[in-house]
Amino acid sequence: MKFFVDTADVEEIRSLVETGLVDGVTTNPTLIAQSGRRFEDVIAEICNLVPGPVSAEVTATDQEGMLAEGRYLAKIAPNVAIKVPLTPEGLMACRILTGEGTLVNVTLCFSAAQAILAAKAGASFISPFIGRLDDVGETGMDLIQEIVEIYDHYPDFRTEVLAASIRSPLHVIEAAQIGADIVTIPPKVLHQLFKHPLTDKGLSDFLADWKKTGQRISVV
Ligand code: E4P
Repeated sequence: MKFFVDTADVEEIRSLVETGLVDGVTTNPTLIAQSGRRFEDVIAEICNLVPGPVSAEVTATDQEGMLAEGRYLAKIAPNVAIKVPLTPEGLMACRILTGEGTLVNVTLCFSAAQAILAAKAGASFISPFIGRLDDVGETGMDLIQEIVEIYDHYPDFRTEVLAASIRSPLHVIEAAQIGADIVTIPPKVLHQLFKHPLTDKGLSDFLADWKKTGQRISVV
């Protein structure tokens, strides 16, 4: 399972990359707005830090505009994945950009039907938004299950399932149990994944007992 980080905070990405756990990054216009920085600069810096796919989202809504923005953003670095919305125009742009050898992440997916269309349009990634479905009283994880099951029937579908809108460690665990190819995780949730109170307690107990022995491990 691959881990992407869902943020446009370059410093946060820099420190997470050091863990060796980051396989890619996703951004969106909201995250870019939160960074307060110029879009292209942020994407270029992230692409330098992370060799895997870095999603940069178009803001045009017509096919021609999405293609122009997508081609422009794709020139920033070879690992840019162009994010297009799951609309008819977005999927037409997806097919063309994919044909040009550009990675495409189809975003704002809220149904299995939409995920089928994205796969048929040749998307590199489909991003079903789990948390936002939970927010409206649906079970977002059911959608991941449906899509993984459907894609499994069709080996010619090359689209990877990228579980998005992750809000908790439980989302990560359930997406992994189902077999999602990728989860894109906000930094806060990625930090939470490390945590267990019994780990902290166990470590502090071991260290206290070790101190009682009066020994040191001599490393030189
Ligand atoms: C995915 O690519 C999106 O950037 C993201 O996961 C959206 O998450 P949110 O619903 O928490 O805003």
